[in-house]
This record gives sequence, C-alpha cells and structure tokens, in this order.
Amino acid sequence: MKIKHLEDMQTLVGLCKQRGFVFPSSEIYGGLSSCWDYGPLGSQMKMNVKKAWWNAMTRRQDIVGIDAAILMHPTVWKASGHVDGFSDPLVDCKNCKQRFRSDNTDSYLEHKKCPFCGSKDLTEPRQFNLMFKTHMGPSEDSTSVVYLRPETAQGIFVNFSQCQVSARKKIPFGIAQIGKSFRNEITPGNFIFRTREFEQMEMQYFVKPGTDADWFKQWKETRWNFYLKLGIKEQNLRFLPHDKLAHYAKAAEDVQYRFPIGWQELEGIHNRSDFDLSQHMKFSGKSLEYFEEANKEKYIPWVIETAVGCDRLFLALLCEAYREEVTIDDKGVEDTRVVLGLHPEIAPVKVAVFPLMKKPELAVPALKLRDELSELWEVNYDEAQSIGKRYRRQDEIGTPFCVTFDFDSINDQAVTVRHRDTMKQDRVAISDLTSYLQIGFKNF
Ligand code: GAP
Repeated sequence: MKIKHLEDMQTLVGLCKQRGFVFPSSEIYGGLSSCWDYGPLGSQMKMNVKKAWWNAMTRRQDIVGIDAAILMHPTVWKASGHVDGFSDPLVDCKNCKQRFRSDNTDSYLEHKKCPFCGSKDLTEPRQFNLMFKTHMGPSEDSTSVVYLRPETAQGIFVNFSQCQVSARKKIPFGIAQIGKSFRNEITPGNFIFRTREFEQMEMQYFVKPGTDADWFKQWKETRWNFYLKLGIKEQNLRFLPHDKLAHYAKAAEDVQYRFPIGWQELEGIHNRSDFDLSQHMKFSGKSLEYFEEANKEKYIPWVIETAVGCDRLFLALLCEAYREEVTIDDKGVEDTRVVLGLHPEIAPVKVAVFPLMKKPELAVPALKLRDELSELWEVNYDEAQSIGKRYRRQDEIGTPFCVTFDFDSINDQAVTVRHRDTMKQDRVAISDLTSYLQIGFKNF
C-alpha cells in the first residue's frame, strides 16, 4: 500500500466543501474574500479543537477562563500600542493600481518593482492600520469610534485584577480566553490560514519578575506536548525564535507547523514583560499591581503569553490527518481510500452506526443503538448504499469507529466494530459496546 499525504491546499478545500467542514462565506452571492463558514462537521470539529485547548488550560488549578467583549474602550488600543503601531507598510502601483505590502514582497524588496505588473512607478510605503473601525451609537463621528479587537489578549490584561481577586489566585497564575479577533489583513489567503475574521485561543500567565525566563521555557514545553497529544507528528513541528523582538517583548518564539504551503506560524509564545499591565496602569490611572502577602512585596507581574489561532490549528490538524491509501489489486486496478486520521478528541463524529441493509428488522435496533450511543458521543447513522461505501464516507470525515448491526446481531446481540485506521473488525456484545469504545478512544 502506498500512502500519500496532503500536498496541496486545494485538495483539502475541496474535501472541506464537499463534506461540510468549511464553505466559502456568502457563496450564493459570489462569496466574500477570505471569509469562510464552518459547516455541520466543521463547526463540531472546531468546537472540539476549542474544548481540547480550553480543558488543557482551565483544568489546571493555576488557570482561570474569561470571555471578554469584542468591543472595548477605545483607550485600550491606545495603551496597547495598536492605534499607533499595529500597521503594515503599503505601496500603490500607479500603473496597474494594485496595492501590496512592501515589507514581505520579494519583487519590491529586491528590485523595487510592482509584483503584479513589474512597473517601477510606485508610491512610497504608507502605514496602513490593520484594526477594523466602527461607530458605537447613532452618531458617526470621531467621538464614537470603537474597534473590533485585533487580539483577545487585551481583554485579559484589563481584567487581570478582577480575575485575581475574585478567583483568589496567587501569582503565578494564568487567564485563558477563546474568542474572535479581527485584522484587516492586506494579504489574507491560503484557505483559513490567514483571514480577516478569526478566532484566537490565548493564555496570559502572570509571574513574578525574575521567574519569567523559567516560565517561558516551561510553557514552550507544555504547548509542544499539547500538539503531540493531538496527534501532530514531531517532524512537522518546530520552534522558531523571532529575529526581531517587538518593543515590549523580552523573548518570542513561534511554534511552526509544516503546512502544505511550507513552515508557518501556528502559535506564538511571548515573554511580554510588564509592558501591558504598566501601559494600562498609565492610561487608566488604576493600579494593576500585585501584593505578595508572604513577603509584603508589591510588584507589576510579568506575562508569558501563549497565543494560537483556532482556525489555524483546525487547518493544521486537517493537514496532518489527511492521507490517501492507494492499493492495486491482482488485476492492476487501483483503489484509493481517503482517510482523515483525526484524533478521536478532535473527530467531529465519534461513532457511525449502520444496519447492514435497509430493512426494518435491522434498522429499528440500529436506530435504538444510535440513540443510546448519542447520549455519550456524536453519532452518525447511515443506511444508504453498500456497507463499503458507508465505511469510506466515514473514513473521509475521520470517524474512528463504525458499528454494524447485521442479521446475526438479532440472535447473538453482538455487533461488528470496524476501526478506521487498521480497518480491523471485532465482534462485540452490545452490552459491552460502550466500554469497548471508551477503551478504544483512550488507546488511540
Ligand atoms: N496576543 C498576541 C497575538 O495576537 P499573534 O502572533 O499576532 O499574537 C497569535 O497571533 C496567533 O493567532 C497566530 O499564531 C495565529 O495562529 C493566529 N492568527 C493571527 N492572525 C491571524 C489571521 N489573520 N488569520 C488566522 N489566524 C491568525
């Protein structure tokens, strides 16, 4: 058997659309550039991605969760530096009227040429702020401007003291959040890799100054292990330290994943010093200091941040999971089995239940089984076409187990359980099915 891994994003885009993971947004109107909708399977899988991250964070005793508003006081973005500094340099081509980023466009950097038409008739680079602006209330003037948050982190910083006091947490402790962020990216693309509306999963860990380097190291290790646990192979992950640090950062590294488009950032791990809390103290006039009871010491905590895009992790997990198993039979006929080898925690459907044939004596007990298993897991019921075709449909969406109720089941009260990855089949008593599946998920 030959195994082919994902080589191009287009294959995945096609599968995602066909099987209901991700659709182009507003497609009946021709779509909207870089906007995507998660379909029936995609929304379930995205929920599972978030749950895996949320549990990994908030089931620790030293991390609490929050859910802050997208719209925040506009001064937040002054204090954070986004109003003045969250921008990309843009150049306009006077010949073809295209606009592009001057800091990452090779033809511009190397030859001062337009990447679209090759003209050298270009404007000087101008800073373009990436924040989406809107107005709050009925008047649309400068006093009513608010921003769609470009990161979730600031919702955590402004709530630091309230979380610390209300949850009675001692330093070191962290605050985790999942939520939408918006950036008016100049060059979105590569499916859901870079979009203008996306979801972030960020955790800010507040530590005593001087312990930050050690916590940075610990968080790098913790996050690395999180990805391995979700089934990402070590050879497809690497750390990349930043060449240039942001003005507030003391250290920054990306966790990169080997996407079909090459090595790209999946998550950022940053030592943000006490920059954010200090800025918010300065702009709000409120103290965000921490008082350490044990030695009567007051200080502004430092922050180690782990920030990953939910959509980007969703994409990485799909890229990692996709495989084509190609076999050739004795007559030389080629057959391809498309499998999403998703970790069961991430798979949108955990179990599929089939009656061997579409007959009431099989369908009625199979439906009963479906309803019982649905109390525990997401279950798919399918009675259309041959059993082989039904297996293939489930393989393609990553369902770890398929359960078939056949004619023997009526008498022996047992079913056939088929494993997605090995295609191995076991006969299991219906009374043991739940524990069999539970053990199966655990041993994945
Ligand atoms: N608070 C720090 C922060 O926001 P970031 O590196 O700008 O850091 C963190 O973003 C993560 O969010 C990235 O590693 C990426 O996974 C995701 N992300 C950022 N911009 C994105 C975009 N335009 N589309 C999809 N995901 C994005």
